[in-house]
Amino acid sequence: MFIVVGVTGGIAAYKTVQLVRLLVKDGHDVHVVPTDDALRFVGMPTWEAISRNTVTTSVHDDVAQVRHVALGQQADLVVVAPATANTIAKMAAGLADDLLGTTLLATTAPVLIAPAMHTEMWRHPATQANIDTLTSRGVHMIGPVSGELTGGDSGPGRVSEPEDIYAAIRRELEQGAPGSAAAAGTRWLVTAGGTREPLDPVRYIGNRSSGRQGLEVARAAAARGADVTLVAVNMDPGLVRMTPETLPGAAEGSYASHESGIRILTASSTEELRDVVREEADQHDVVVMAAAVSDYRAADVAQDKMRKEDTGGALSIELVETPDILAEIAASRREGQTIVGFAAETPGEKTLAERAFAKRERKGCDLLAANEVGWDRGFERDDNHLLVVDEMGIVADVAGTKRETAEGLVTAILAR
Ligand SMILES: Cc1cc2nc3c(=O)[nH]c(=O)nc-3n(C[C@H](O)[C@H](O)[C@H](O)COP(=O)(O)O)c2cc1C
Repeated sequence: MFIVVGVTGGIAAYKTVQLVRLLVKDGHDVHVVPTDDALRFVGMPTWEAISRNTVTTSVHDDVAQVRHVALGQQADLVVVAPATANTIAKMAAGLADDLLGTTLLATTAPVLIAPAMHTEMWRHPATQANIDTLTSRGVHMIGPVSGELTGGDSGPGRVSEPEDIYAAIRRELEQGAPGSAAAAGTRWLVTAGGTREPLDPVRYIGNRSSGRQGLEVARAAAARGADVTLVAVNMDPGLVRMTPETLPGAAEGSYASHESGIRILTASSTEELRDVVREEADQHDVVVMAAAVSDYRAADVAQDKMRKEDTGGALSIELVETPDILAEIAASRREGQTIVGFAAETPGEKTLAERAFAKRERKGCDLLAANEVGWDRGFERDDNHLLVVDEMGIVADVAGTKRETAEGLVTAILAR
């Protein structure tokens, strides 16, 4: 996609470097249009190097290409991040005294702004009136959020994080993508990560699942307009970017927060995950059980740390089976609900597809996404191979980044 990124004169301009990086990494053709003031914060060489395109600010540059309107005409999306109070006012008035101004007037593509300014400037009636004008014209807004501002004070006015702006861009671009009409307004529950079964206060039985694949499924569904609840099971808080705000209604022992419009709950053991899923499943149209759940737990959990001197050279731990959450949810699903299971399989005599068919039938879920795992595949990596089956056969076979495989799975779910 051809994406124009307008950058205006605030400290937060440095965060837009990361946004441009994410968009370029995604394969988009990114054209940065900074205001003159923006260049006092982050210089031209940075924008050119990171976007891999020539950067100009004046309507008098590159005149032969009629650049002052060409960028806007070609754009699939224009995002202004950060958007200063000044630029917001100029947009509301329709001023066109620089390349960003003419681009914004020349475009018919969706426009997304990420305002950033001090709380007083944000709350000023002039800024609020300008925001009302822009939103009434269909300009979309992400943020501002509440938080620490330049100068040490805090309040509403802080620019949204680059990853959140990136997610909003994805949502914008994917409106109209296959299945987005089917996804809009549906509620999805996605589990991700791996359970930990305690052995004693310091040790547990765990697995290598990072939760990346489940997180990408949550993001892909959210990007197509679904309301998503992610149950993060022992995931790295940095990966899901959890903030410690507790939402009312969160299951006891877990806490909730937001990432790019995704509601996040947490769980650790299979029992905790089961409680959260049971509590939540009914309110969701699609349940995707991507978390790797332990099949066994210790029959007895030691209350004190087990010590070598007490175990006499060897230790036996009795393990008992944990409940099968996927099978339970599939058995009790309500009319119209879609249940999706995951299977992580090491290569064996039977093919991945054979094992996927057998497991889907055993669990009673609608779709089953199987991936091959091993010492060197599946875990702690960015790429994956997912084979998705239903009662009729293979409905998707996608290899690529975990984001691409997530897109394939979400498309298969929506096709159903
Ligand atoms: C250090 C510094 C930080 C600034 N941060 C912001 C800001 O976050 N938001 C804002 O609206 N203006 C901010 N300003 C003021 C703008 O730079 C100023 O209004 C400028 O005219 C904006 O021009 P532009 O919208 O064409 O980029 C800041 C100014 C300075 C010197």
